[in-house]
Amino acid sequence: MTDIKEESSISIGVLHSHSKGDERLYGRRRAHPLRERQQRLLSYYLPRLKFPISFSETPYSAFGRTPKQIWLEIGFGGGEHSLAQHKANPEIGYIACEVFENGICSLLSSLADSTSDEMEASIPDMLRVWNEDARILIKKLPSESIDRLFLMFPDPWPKARHAKRRFVNADRLPLLAHILKHKAYWHIASDDLTYQEWVKQVMSDQPYFEKILETTTKPQDWPNTRYEQKAIRAGRTPIYWIFQKK
Ligand SMILES: C[S@@+](CC[C@H](N)C(=O)[O-])C[C@H]1O[C@@H](n2cnc3c(N)ncnc32)[C@H](O)[C@@H]1O
Repeated sequence: MTDIKEESSISIGVLHSHSKGDERLYGRRRAHPLRERQQRLLSYYLPRLKFPISFSETPYSAFGRTPKQIWLEIGFGGGEHSLAQHKANPEIGYIACEVFENGICSLLSSLADSTSDEMEASIPDMLRVWNEDARILIKKLPSESIDRLFLMFPDPWPKARHAKRRFVNADRLPLLAHILKHKAYWHIASDDLTYQEWVKQVMSDQPYFEKILETTTKPQDWPNTRYEQKAIRAGRTPIYWIFQKK
């Protein structure tokens, strides 16, 4: 079994698969070498903000205050959506997951920019970062512990032979349904035509989630993401979905 963290130190600018038992993580941990400030954010700020895996059985205790609900975002990219949701919903405990270090640094930098000392920078009570494969955390969370799930512009893996790598997958739905509360919402967005058809197909034939919304008109209270803006600039039309746990 390969350790994702160990591999990350050599995964500069290339696509790596990180074996984790029966599942692999395909994707980049890093696009280009980190600057000194980014290194400091990862070394000194991230450990203070990281969701403690020892609290995975009792996730409500992982925050500075007891949250009213817990929301989980998978693959936050540069963190724009996570930050906006966190700021707009101060009573929500938000767990933001991402493995791409340059993206994680963007989020950390936005949070810590009031000071240059990452050891002293304040930690938000209600936001925690999981900087490893989200699937590791999902497997450890208790049943009915998550009130909302966000999957914004997931890696599309458009080639048919890579379909198993797509996060929306029939095999994964039972576990997602397990951690989500009854009637919890799952937001998904994608601009990729293959992924759009895939979501429609996978989600049309399963017993766990009911479709509440499928639209090309962006819901008003959904914050922008970097990939979304890039897609729109390139002339692609995202689809936005809300599924509700049955
Ligand atoms: C296409 S990007 C979209 C980023 C962001 N949501 C946005 O819309 O700008 C997908 C992101 O998901 C992350 N990702 C993919 N699989 C993941 C996993 N298993 N755990 C955590 N992050 C993951 C990738 O590193 C990548 O940054």
